Amino acid sequence: MTESRTENENTAGNAATLPPGASGPVRAGRAEALRFAATHTLPAFVRGFVNARPRVVAAYAAINQPAWSAATLRAMRARHGGAPVLVRGLSGPVLVLFYEADLRQFFAEPVRTLSLDAPDKNKGLTVLEPTGVICSHGELREERRKINDEVLAGDRPLHPACAQYQGIVEEESLALTRRATLDFSQMKQATGRISRRVAFGDRAAGDEELTGWLSELRDAANWMGLVKSRNKADRALYAKATARFEEYAADAPGHALAARALSCPAGADTDPLGQVHHWLLALDGLVGVILRTLLLLAAHPAEQEAAHADIATGGPELPRLRACVQESLRLYPLVPDLVRVTRAETVWGGVRHPAGTSVLVPIGFHQRDSARVPAADLFVPGRWLEADADRDLRMAPFSHGGGRCPGGQLGLLLTSAICAQVLRGHRIVGGRPAVDPHRPLPGTVDTAAIRLRLAPR
Ligand code: HEM
Repeated sequence: MTESRTENENTAGNAATLPPGASGPVRAGRAEALRFAATHTLPAFVRGFVNARPRVVAAYAAINQPAWSAATLRAMRARHGGAPVLVRGLSGPVLVLFYEADLRQFFAEPVRTLSLDAPDKNKGLTVLEPTGVICSHGELREERRKINDEVLAGDRPLHPACAQYQGIVEEESLALTRRATLDFSQMKQATGRISRRVAFGDRAAGDEELTGWLSELRDAANWMGLVKSRNKADRALYAKATARFEEYAADAPGHALAARALSCPAGADTDPLGQVHHWLLALDGLVGVILRTLLLLAAHPAEQEAAHADIATGGPELPRLRACVQESLRLYPLVPDLVRVTRAETVWGGVRHPAGTSVLVPIGFHQRDSARVPAADLFVPGRWLEADADRDLRMAPFSHGGGRCPGGQLGLLLTSAICAQVLRGHRIVGGRPAVDPHRPLPGTVDTAAIRLRLAPR
C-alpha cells in the first residue's frame, strides 16, 4: 500500500468540519511541478484535448508516453504519502488527488460546489458547444442536465429507442464484414453514419460535410482559445453547423436524439438542440472504443468465444460484450483526466482550499494503478460482471456522481451492438498493432493504425 493516510484521518467535505490548527496544503516542489508539466499536462495538450491528433497518438504509442505520466504520478504519491498535492501547472495551480477517500469526496461533492466547467476546459469546449451542459453551471446547468438525462436515458441500460438504434446498427454494420480485413477508415465511415442517423434520422446519414465542419471546430477547440485570430471564423462555423442541425431537427423522426431534445420542456436559454454538439462529439468518439475492444478480443480468443455466447442469446443486453467495452475503456479511457473547479471553499485531506481551486483526478492513472487494481495492465473483462463493479471508485470510465456521463448507457448499447455485428458469423483471427496478452498492455494504442483480420465462423 503506497498511501499513509487512513480513512479516519481524512477530513472531507465543507470548511466547517476543519479541525483547529490544520496545516497548509502539501505543495509539489519546483522540479516535481516541472516533471508533472513535462510528462502529464503538456503531452495531453499536444495530443489534443478534444480531437486527438493522429500523428501525435502514433508517436506516443511508439514511446509508450502514458508510462512517463504514470511514473511521475506514482513518485508524487509516494513522496507525499497520498495527500492531495497542489501542483503549479502551466496555467495556475491544480490540486491532484490520489487517496481513495479524496476520490470519494470528489464524486460525492455536488456539482454546484465542484463544477465541471473549469476555466481551461471551458476555453476549448465553448468553441464547439457554448451552450452544452458541460460548459454550464448553476440553475441553467441543472436544466440542461435534465434534458441530457431525459433524452439519453442514462439510468437505463436499454434506451427507449433501442429497437430503432439496433436496426440502424444492423444496416450500417453490413459494410464492416464484406472484406476479410477491417480498418479504421471503414469503422469511421460506418460509425459516422450511425451517429448522424441516431442524432437526426436517416436524412442526415450521408452528411459528411456536417461531420467535416464539426471536426474543424473540434480541432479549433484543441487550442483552448489560445489562437484568438480564429475566434470569428469558429463562431461562423458553429452558426453554420447549428443551422444544419435545425434543418434536420425540423422533420426528425421521434427516435432521433434531436427530436427527443426538442420535445423536452425548456426555458428560453436552455438550448436543447445545442446539446447535440456534445452528443455527436461523443458518438464520433465511439469509433476508437469499438476498434480497441475488437483488437483486444483478437488477442484474447477465450474472451472472444465468451462474447460469441453472448451474441448467440440474440438479445440486445450483451452483458459480456459490454464488460469487454468497459474493460477496454478502463485500459484506454476517453477522458483520462477528470478536472473540476470549486465554487465554494472546500476541505481536502484536512486542508482548506479557496473557491476557484482546480481539482484533478488522473483517473487514467488510477484505473491502471497496480497498487490498487488487480491485474491492472491486463484485459480482464470479467471484473465488470461483478456486483457493484460499476460503482467501484477506483474505476470511472464514465465518472461518478452528479457529473457522471449521461450518455454512458447509450454508448455501451451502440458499441456492444456494433462489436456484435462484426463478430456475428465471424472470428477475428488477427490484428495490428500486435498485442501480447501475456505482457502488460501498452499505455496507448495507435487507433488509426488498427487493422483486423476476419474469418468466417
Ligand atoms: C462509451 C463512451 C463514453 C465515455 C467513455 C464517456 C465518458 C464521459 C465522462 C468521463 C464524462 C465526464 C467528463 C468530465 O468529468 O469532465 C462524460 C460526460 C458527458 N458525456 Fe460521455 N462518454 C461516452 C459516451 C457518451 C455518449 C454516447 C454521449 C451522448 C450521446 C455522452 C454525453 C456526455 C455528456 C452530455 C457529458 C457531460 C455531462 C455533464 O456535464 O453533466 N457521452 N462522458
